[in-house]
Amino acid sequence: MSATDAKAESREFNFTWAHFEHLRKISMSHTGIQVPDIKQEMFYARLSKRVRALRLNDFDQYIRYLEDNWDSEGTPFINALTTNLTSFFRENHHFNFLKKTVVAAAQQKKQRSIKIWSAGCSTGEEPYSIAMTMTEACSGTGVEWELTATDLDTDVLARAQRGVYALDRIEGIDQDKKKRFFMKGTGPRAGYVRVKEELRNKIQFRQLNLIKPIDMGDRYDVIFCRNVVIYFDRDTKVKLVEQFVRHLQPKAYLIMGHSESLHGISNAFEGLGNTIYQLN
Ligand SMILES: C[S@@+](CC[C@H](N)C(=O)[O-])C[C@H]1O[C@@H](n2cnc3c(N)ncnc32)[C@H](O)[C@@H]1O
Repeated sequence: MSATDAKAESREFNFTWAHFEHLRKISMSHTGIQVPDIKQEMFYARLSKRVRALRLNDFDQYIRYLEDNWDSEGTPFINALTTNLTSFFRENHHFNFLKKTVVAAAQQKKQRSIKIWSAGCSTGEEPYSIAMTMTEACSGTGVEWELTATDLDTDVLARAQRGVYALDRIEGIDQDKKKRFFMKGTGPRAGYVRVKEELRNKIQFRQLNLIKPIDMGDRYDVIFCRNVVIYFDRDTKVKLVEQFVRHLQPKAYLIMGHSESLHGISNAFEGLGNTIYQLN
């Protein structure tokens, strides 16, 4: 018996290649995320929890249930499948860029306010890193800032809004920031910190699907969209970047993840290095 067969035999629910194909197609049409073959096991692990929670007998029933009850099951289905890996000050050069270039230029131009959008904000580490950077960098400059953070996954968005993290998540943050921006939990909350209210209140969180038509009702000076489009196909990336262009001020910035690029996707930007792009 092969390792794959042995794994399949030990499963609680029968999960065939046809089930996987069907479910990844549904997922792709709603999220834009292309799912490679090696994710079959991940799909089983995450979705079998839904089969159990709904007290269904197998994946045939789950697929039928999902299709008949998209309004209620669509969200848990998508939430179960998104990949939300993130951390505070991930790719720190992007936060240095905010401080050294974006805020400094705004000050020079006597620009009153800087508008930032964290698109695909996951559990909040990215927008809170932006918020800490902007609070410090704008202090005493007369420059104000606004931050909107969006994600498709409603579970991670709720966690982002709560702003509660295990202590080890903030290990790499310098002492001054820890003191200024986090409260330590006590009693049953020992081992956790919470982002202070004044920082949490600076961020507007909202659910948003980046593959649907977007109207944020605003134009931004910086859009962070990092480690989100990595699994989108080319057409989906092209359409999304066109939507970003419509939401950026002239000469504004789009910041992507380290393994993402606008090469072959858009000519509207100049690359400044470190996956920072400036609108022409
Ligand atoms: C790997 S996390 C990246 C988090 C953060 N930007 C960072 O770089 O640390 C990717 C996030 O993109 C979100 N996402 C995936 N597809 C999306 C879509 N179609 N619309 C909006 N958000 C999406 C996921 O829910 C997930 O939270």
